[in-house]
Amino acid sequence: MATTTVEAENLGKRFKDTTALDGFDVSVESGTVLGLLGPNGAGKTTTVRILTTLLRFDTGRAAVAGFDVARDARQVRRRIGLTGQQTAVDDLLSARQNLVLFGKLFRLNKADAIKRADQLLDQFGLADAADKQPKKFSGGMKRRLDLAASMILAPQVLFLDEPTTGLDPAGRREVWETVSGLAADGTTVVLTTHYLDEADRLCDRISVIDHGRNIAEDTPMGLKRRMGADRLEIVAADPVDLPALRSIVDAVAGGGAKVDETSGSVSAPVRNPVEALTAAANAVQDKKLDVADIGLRRPTLDEAFLELIGEPTEKEGDQ
Ligand SMILES: Nc1ncnc2c1ncn2[C@@H]1O[C@H](COP(=O)(O)OP(=O)(O)O)[C@@H](O)[C@H]1O
Ligand SMILES: [Mg+2]
Repeated sequence: MATTTVEAENLGKRFKDTTALDGFDVSVESGTVLGLLGPNGAGKTTTVRILTTLLRFDTGRAAVAGFDVARDARQVRRRIGLTGQQTAVDDLLSARQNLVLFGKLFRLNKADAIKRADQLLDQFGLADAADKQPKKFSGGMKRRLDLAASMILAPQVLFLDEPTTGLDPAGRREVWETVSGLAADGTTVVLTTHYLDEADRLCDRISVIDHGRNIAEDTPMGLKRRMGADRLEIVAADPVDLPALRSIVDAVAGGGAKVDETSGSVSAPVRNPVEALTAAANAVQDKKLDVADIGLRRPTLDEAFLELIGEPTEKEGDQ
């Protein structure tokens, strides 16, 4: 039977005049992967730091692996692993030496640290690179070494802060496969991301966070249904027609039409895509307007966030 491994209620955290968390709730069942999805500055890292006992909070309560984060920090620390936004491995040591060092930090004796290092190198597909320095690794390999380092004590709960930010597509896929493997072996995973596709690919449940608050919590499928309506899009042949096309899109979509001046297009989310497309095509013909393109498309990540949180996501590349 599933038990709740991470539970937080009404978390509040201020940094001087910035409210980082404003009554945030989260709950994660054991053996599942929860994604904290939100734009930069939403409060994801703050949440992870609180749940991993690295940061005090002002209000609310949180428990991880059955222990109170504030009162039993030491018990919590024994049961969790953390991979932060910055890499923790030393570029001058080999992969194996890095893992042995981490083992010793976790108080394994030398023989056990070496044994554990070799197990992890195997498990994370790094056995062939064991004697190489991480500075010669691809981004994906380096991240896998980071993940291996946080798995020394086979933690019940693994926290990953933006595990694939900065990686190329191949590196992202490698990390996704590794994390899926850990989850399949029963590790509970809490990860943060600002990539919708990552949350979709990896998570059993997604908690959307913005301005330190819960915006939505659902399965990826449920979430996409909520924010992921198909969009009807018409590209004008002549920008002069944009206002007329906008009225058409508004009429068939029941409002919500947005004009993109750069691409000379109008689009809106639609509930009945085929009906909306047919109605729009008929209206365009009736009004004898010339269009360059008319069709249906999936929302972009930015549009999905926009529908949900009501403002554009910031560009990546901060903290
Ligand atoms: N140590 C800090 N001092 C001051 N403000 C901070 C500190 N850490 C985070 N913040 C602020 O708290 C908010 C949430 O930050 P963070 O949790 O890092 O967001 P995310 O990880 O979702 O990008 C942001 O406005 C950020 O600037
Ligand atoms: Mg962050």
